Parts: sequence; structure tokens; C-alpha cells
Amino acid sequence: MTLNQSERPLIDLRSDTVTKPTPAMRQAMYEAEVGDDVFGEDPTIIKLEQQAAAVTGKEAALYVSSGTMANLVSLLSQTRAGDELLVGDRAHIVRSEAGGVSRLGGVLATTLPNQPDGGFDPELIPGAVRPDDMHQPRTTLLALENTHNFCGGTVISLERMQEIAGVAHDLGLRVHLDGARIFNAAVASGHSVAELAAPADSVTFCLSKGLGAPVGSLICGDEAFIAQARRTRKLVGGGMRQAGILAAAGLVALDQMVDRLHDDHANARQLTRGLAELGFDVNPERVETNIIIAQLDTSSDPAPSPKLQAELKRIGVLVTTPDRTKIRLVTHADVTSEDCAEALRRMAEAEIGPG
Ligand SMILES: Cc1ncc(COP(=O)(O)O)c(C=O)c1O
Repeated sequence: MTLNQSERPLIDLRSDTVTKPTPAMRQAMYEAEVGDDVFGEDPTIIKLEQQAAAVTGKEAALYVSSGTMANLVSLLSQTRAGDELLVGDRAHIVRSEAGGVSRLGGVLATTLPNQPDGGFDPELIPGAVRPDDMHQPRTTLLALENTHNFCGGTVISLERMQEIAGVAHDLGLRVHLDGARIFNAAVASGHSVAELAAPADSVTFCLSKGLGAPVGSLICGDEAFIAQARRTRKLVGGGMRQAGILAAAGLVALDQMVDRLHDDHANARQLTRGLAELGFDVNPERVETNIIIAQLDTSSDPAPSPKLQAELKRIGVLVTTPDRTKIRLVTHADVTSEDCAEALRRMAEAEIGPG
């Protein structure tokens, strides 16, 4: 018996955040030793923070609920109201975090144009840093993102990271790295997470994206910064109590879910090759990790992505629309190579193309 369209299993390519905890994570959560983490007494969180500091090569780490909170707490902990942050114009921090750094931190976010790899031209930085003048905000912080979500999961090379951070440091700025998917960057580039994090003063990473844990992100940096971040976390209501029950899944994620990111990257390349065959404007050479962004044909419809998203949903393939001219597909632990092939088969069968 063949399933009709509505009965076909969904292939969820919206995000790597949709993954469900593995049986090993659920078991670890069940057995987790816990305590009151606001009193610093949760042994599972302490262990996770120690492992996060070790893997990023930083002195200390702090567990928070989400990538958004990790960025917010990091940025607020390194700025004062009235300061200025330099950040890429396609950065998650400016596009998808509800303007938190400005609203809650009183920090002006000035954007530099992102280049295709997710970095920006280091030569633009000196001109963007304000002179010491009472009329102007103080430019104190620069933020990078690696891998870069809205540039299509791109990896900023270690050399580029070093160059950009070096210019910023020479000008007296601190450097934050939104490393929500830094493990993907490490696996794709062959550099360790610590190497990629070294140019930054603060780095965040997420456990609940490619690593498959249900909740949680880490902020890592030196002891003084993490002590300040702990205060800021409290300020924004992010102190959690027996949260070791969540952190336990994060420990399993670090232990068991890193090496398999290679599979997500291979599946994304497979999907990209198929999309290219269906006529989509995607280049398998440019898909370095688990995110694919396809630019759609706008010659007959200037905003085609919502319609395409709806058509894909009808055949049981879920995607997101980063804007009204693009769709985004993300591979993750809960989609297999066979699921990717099936998604492409359904698209071919339904004659779904880029415009
Ligand atoms: C690069 C980047 N930073 C931060 C976040 C925020 O993470 P969260 O959804 O856990 O708040 C995301 C989420 O997709 C992201 O892609």
C-alpha cells in the first residue's frame, strides 16, 4: 500500500533545533545528580561547565538556557549602556534575537557587510571604530559568528578569524564569537573548537542544535568574564535551580554527538546536489556544513518563498524562509541520507522547482 501525500512521514528540514533527545540522553537525564545551581551546587552542571571550558580552551564556562541568552549575557557582560557593538549585517545577533542587546543592554549595534564566508572585511574595522569623542558612542566590542547561519552554514577560516579579531584587539575592542554551531565549524575545517575559539575573548555554543540535546548553551571565557556573566545571567532571570537534569543530556551530546556531524554535512551536500539537479540556485561546493540556503527565481514573483514553503509542506517536506526570496534546509541527527533522497524524490514527483 502506498501512503497518500498527507500520510507520508514528515521530513523536517527546518532546523537542527528540532532534534529529539536520544535514548542515552533520556537515561542520563533520569539518573542525573542535581543540586541548586544558583548556589553553585549542581554537580552535573559543574561537570558540563568544566568540559565546556576544556573543549573551548577557556578558563571557565557558564550554562544558560539558550543560544539567544548566551549571546545576550555575553554581550551585556562586556559592554555598558551607550557602547557600540560591531557585528555582521546577517548575524543572528542582529537578525534573530529580538534586538536584545539594544533593548536590554542599551548598546548600539552597527553592522558591517557580511562577506560570503560569514566574516567581514577587516579593513572596514578601523574606520568603523569611533574616535574618543563625547558626542559618539564608545565602540567596545566586535562579534563574529562561526558557522554562519544566514550565510548558509559557512565556516570562517581560522586565518580569517585571527585576522579580524587581531585588528579588533589592536584597536582595544573585545571580541565575541557566536559559536552556536562551532562544532560544525570544527568538524568541517579540521581545526579543534579551542583553535577556532582562541581569537575570541568570549565564545558561546549550543547543545540543542546539531548536538541534539533538548536544552542549553554554554558561555566560555576567562574567570573574570564568567564571574560577570554569572551576575548578568541572574539579572536576566536565567539562574536555574536543579538544571543538572538538562545538563546531563548536554554531557551526552558532547560525548556522543560531535563525530556524527560529518553525516549531517554529507547529507547536506547530497541534498544540495539534488536541489541543483531540480534547478535550484545552490552550489554543492559552497555547502560546507549542515545548512543550505537556496535563492529562488524572482522573475515572475518577487516574493516566492512563502508559496514554495507551503507547496513543500503539502508533500511533507518542512523548510524555513530566511526571507521572502530564499528557502533554508538544515540537516541534523533526526534526518537520514534516505530521508534526504526521499525529500528530493517527492519534489521531483510534484515538479517543485525554484520558481
Ligand atoms: C548562529 C546562532 N546563534 C544563536 C542562536 C540562538 O539559539 P537559540 O535558538 O537557542 O536561542 C541561533 C539559533 O538558531 C543561531 O543560529
